[in-house]
Amino acid sequence: MRPSKAKDHHAAGSPPGPPLASRQTSAPGAHPHPAGSAASPGSGPEGEAPGPFFPDVSDLRALDADVPAAVGRLLDQLLAERAAQAAALDPVFAHDLAERVARFTLDGGKRTRSQFVWWALRACGGEGRAAAAALRVGAALELIQTCALVHDDVMDGSRLRRGRPSLHADVAAQYAGEAPSSQGTRFGEAAAILAGDLALAWADDLLADTELAPDTARRVRGVWRAMRMEMVAGQYLDVQGQATSSRSSARAIRAACLKSALYSVERPLALGAALAGADAATTTALCSAGRRVGIAFQLRDDLHDVFGSPRGAGKPSGCDIRSGKPTYLVAVAQARAETAGDRHALAVLRRSLGRADLPETGLAEVRGVLVATGARATVEARIERLVAQGMRHLDAAALRTDGLRRLRDLLHSAAGARSAGRTSCGAPRTEGGLPGSLLFTACAEGAAR
Ligand code: IPE
Ligand code: MG
Ligand code: MG
Ligand code: MG
Repeated sequence: MRPSKAKDHHAAGSPPGPPLASRQTSAPGAHPHPAGSAASPGSGPEGEAPGPFFPDVSDLRALDADVPAAVGRLLDQLLAERAAQAAALDPVFAHDLAERVARFTLDGGKRTRSQFVWWALRACGGEGRAAAAALRVGAALELIQTCALVHDDVMDGSRLRRGRPSLHADVAAQYAGEAPSSQGTRFGEAAAILAGDLALAWADDLLADTELAPDTARRVRGVWRAMRMEMVAGQYLDVQGQATSSRSSARAIRAACLKSALYSVERPLALGAALAGADAATTTALCSAGRRVGIAFQLRDDLHDVFGSPRGAGKPSGCDIRSGKPTYLVAVAQARAETAGDRHALAVLRRSLGRADLPETGLAEVRGVLVATGARATVEARIERLVAQGMRHLDAAALRTDGLRRLRDLLHSAAGARSAGRTSCGAPRTEGGLPGSLLFTACAEGAAR
């Protein structure tokens, strides 16, 4: 299944955009450090890595104004270098995998996680080398996100991501016609497993090459280690629940927390706090806020999957229903229908969930059940509650005003919450609805290690 010559660089499914090396930028805000240490790729006898890039953080206000751009510049430089190293190893590997990973990371996403790191750092008063490190840690999180999404699309059988073919579908399309289609599908998935692994390795390398004071390094690595394992645990619960049709709402919230809330919101905030050397009370408040808003973020994603427009999300709707995902939304509908003895709703759920060939009319019927049982409204209300609780935790922390304001905005927009208004300051009120085990565990441990 070797690519034809033409396909080496011009296949329909090949990565779009100019060659990565030509995108390498010398824009302000990112320069090699120490000066002149960036060896030409593959020049060392073992393809030795050049000196790490340390962004210029002398103008914090300029960076504040556009954090995604600052992280993007760092990723541009880093990934051009990684792509060149890959090319020195093998041109097919470089073209098919390394450049796809680089482009996926560079061309998409809202840089939510890196913004959380940055604004947690700023809200805790971090600056100087800590700020440079925060951009690098943010960039590493963007690579973790690439790994997570590329693997997730294989696990979920999703052929569309960010409005484009997902990586496994893209690789399969590049080689269409050169192998029987079943083999092509499997090949695409194998390629995506490797692409995700590559992104994870690059993320780990970036973190490992970030110089930190010993105490900060211990805290940051503790959070990072916890985060990687949590995400794997959550993704496993997700597919295991799908395979076994396990639909309890407590389990659904647990999976949402592990597979999404922690690596998307809580851990990025904890990383920013650790880099800034924040005290335990501030770190705990940020983690508590992140945990709640992070769960709301996944509940919003679950709602979008069923009720959102595919164009807005860049991914098709109804996938969770057709694959039988054990989401909180479905768990609530199921429980409500059982309690009410709603035979129609139960029959619709039974015949539709996990049915890969469910037609649009069937999906519309499920939407009707999710609305009629009150599940949709319950999830909306839960999102609002979680966000409000998160804001109270944030307001109770000793944070710098500007950083606090930016964090509030970012958290609201991540959860797609209706009310962006402020809640009153003060101690957190009652925590309706989150199991105790989710409230007080991982954050404090990870932050302390
Ligand atoms: C994915 O959850 C979580 C991770 C990538 C770890 P989903 O499967 O719900 O994400 P989408 O809907 O495909 O983006
Ligand atoms: Mg998915
Ligand atoms: Mg998934
Ligand atoms: Mg989803």
